[in-house]
Amino acid sequence: MENKKDKLMNITPGQVSELIRGRRSLYPAMYSDKTIAREIIEEILENANWAPTHKMTEPWRFMVFTGEGLKKLAHFQSELYRELSLKEGTYEEKQYHKLKEKPLMCSHIIAIGMHRDPQQRIPEMEEIAATACAVQNMYLTAVAHGIGCYWGTGGITYRKEAKPFFNLGEHDKLLGFFHLGVPVNEEWPRGRRQPVSEKVAWVE
Ligand SMILES: Cc1cc2nc3c(=O)[nH]c(=O)nc-3n(C[C@H](O)[C@H](O)[C@H](O)COP(=O)(O)O)c2cc1C
Repeated sequence: MENKKDKLMNITPGQVSELIRGRRSLYPAMYSDKTIAREIIEEILENANWAPTHKMTEPWRFMVFTGEGLKKLAHFQSELYRELSLKEGTYEEKQYHKLKEKPLMCSHIIAIGMHRDPQQRIPEMEEIAATACAVQNMYLTAVAHGIGCYWGTGGITYRKEAKPFFNLGEHDKLLGFFHLGVPVNEEWPRGRRQPVSEKVAWVE
C-alpha cells in the first residue's frame, strides 16, 4: 500500500467501525461446500502478518489446510484425541466424531501458532497477544470479503503432543484453529455485547 503523508488511507472511520462491529463468528454448520479462492486466503494471511509486534518478533505461525489437507487434519486431531482421552478415561464418542467431521465442512482451516522468540526478549504473554492481533486481522479481512470464519480453541489445541504436527517447538504454543467457509445464507448473524461503558473507567 502506498503511504500518503496527508491522508494515510482512503477509508473512513465510519467504514472501519462498520467492519469492526459487523465482524461475526460464523460456524462450519453455516458454510456451503464452496471453496474460497486462494487469493483471498493469501490476502487474509498477508493482513495477519501486519499485526502489531513488540520487538518485531512476529510470533504468528500458520499452517493452512484445504482439500486433502483437511482430511489429514481431521484424521490427526481425532486420533490424537482418542489416544490421549482413552488413556485419561475421558473419551467421548461424540467428541471424536466432531473432530473427525468438522474440518470437512470447511473450505480452509488455518492452525494458529505462536513461535516464542528464541531469546525470550519479551514476556510470552505479549507474543500470544500479538498472535491474537494477527487473528483479528484475519477475521476482519474475511468479513470484508463476506467469508464466514471463527477462531476455535477446542479439541487438541492445548495438547503438547499436537505441537510437532504443526511444526511448533517446545516453547511455542498452538492457539487454536481459524475455520473458514463461504456462508450458505445471505443473512449475517447479529452481534451481542454488553455496553462498553460497563468496562471503562475514565480518569479526568
Ligand atoms: C481466543 C478465542 C477462542 C475461541 N474459541 C472458541 C471455541 O472454541 N468455540 C467456539 O464456538 N467459539 C470460540 N470462539 C469464538 C467466540 O465464541 C465468539 O467470538 C463469540 O461468541 C462472540 O461472537 P462474535 O465473534 O460473532 O462477536 C473463540 C474466540 C476467541 C477470541
